[in-house]
Amino acid sequence: MNLKESINTKSLPKHIAIIMDGNGRWAKQKGLLRTVGHENGTKSVRETVEACAELGIENLTLYAFSTENWNRPKIEVQTLMKLLVSSLKKEIKTLEENDIKLTAIGCLNELPKKAHRELQEVIEKTKDNKRMCLTLALSYGSREEILNTVKKISAKVKNNIISLEKIDESVINEHLYTRNLPDVDLLIRTSGEQRISNFLLWQIAYAEFYFTPVLWPDFTKQCLYEAIIEYQKRERRFGKTSEQLN
Ligand code: IPE
Ligand code: IPE
Ligand code: MG
Repeated sequence: MNLKESINTKSLPKHIAIIMDGNGRWAKQKGLLRTVGHENGTKSVRETVEACAELGIENLTLYAFSTENWNRPKIEVQTLMKLLVSSLKKEIKTLEENDIKLTAIGCLNELPKKAHRELQEVIEKTKDNKRMCLTLALSYGSREEILNTVKKISAKVKNNIISLEKIDESVINEHLYTRNLPDVDLLIRTSGEQRISNFLLWQIAYAEFYFTPVLWPDFTKQCLYEAIIEYQKRERRFGKTSEQLN
């Protein structure tokens, strides 16, 4: 049976987050430079964005560059930043045509000026789009995000803008970079690695995890459908018993 048709559109994850991993290994297997792997990874980004929008997924967050990735060889970091700029320039039209809003989370100030400017421009141009929210995690680290949140809330307490007693989970949510997004329902990681690598630690508290050995440049719409079908087989109990749910 067609995979897409076996997806129940009434119980779609509201927020899918993806750790797009395996570009380097994909290239190495083919005797190519790592950077060629990254270039080919952009095709999978396009496929995934398109597939999510077509299905009616409301939020898609892609881990594109971590705070730790700054420690990679300079030439690889430069290529990734150039690729970011060229992809943004290339995809703006598709985002507009498909009514997709682009946002970004992370230490965006640390991006090269050109990349930062291009990013802000696309964010501004697509801000009123409604069909899907596509968030790029760039220079993103969850511990940095949490640290930043603690500092912002502490400053408000110090200046009597908020009282200590009023701090609850929703206050924390409102100060995270992801303040406008719901919790992650489905977290996908490609390339066979089974770790979180400092991604959305707070937001994945009750996410379903899906690990696939497929390397990111080989990830297709069909791979995404498989992940969603697997997600729909899970019973999300949120601490309750199975009997309570039925
Ligand atoms: C993911 O692919 C892309 C980024 C982290 C930017 P990798 O570059 O990590 O690929 P592997 O893990 O070395 O195969
Ligand atoms: C995580 O991948 C970051 C992104 C996908 C952008 P890495 O390949 O950097 O993760 P580790 O270091 O192997 O855990
Ligand atoms: Mg990797």
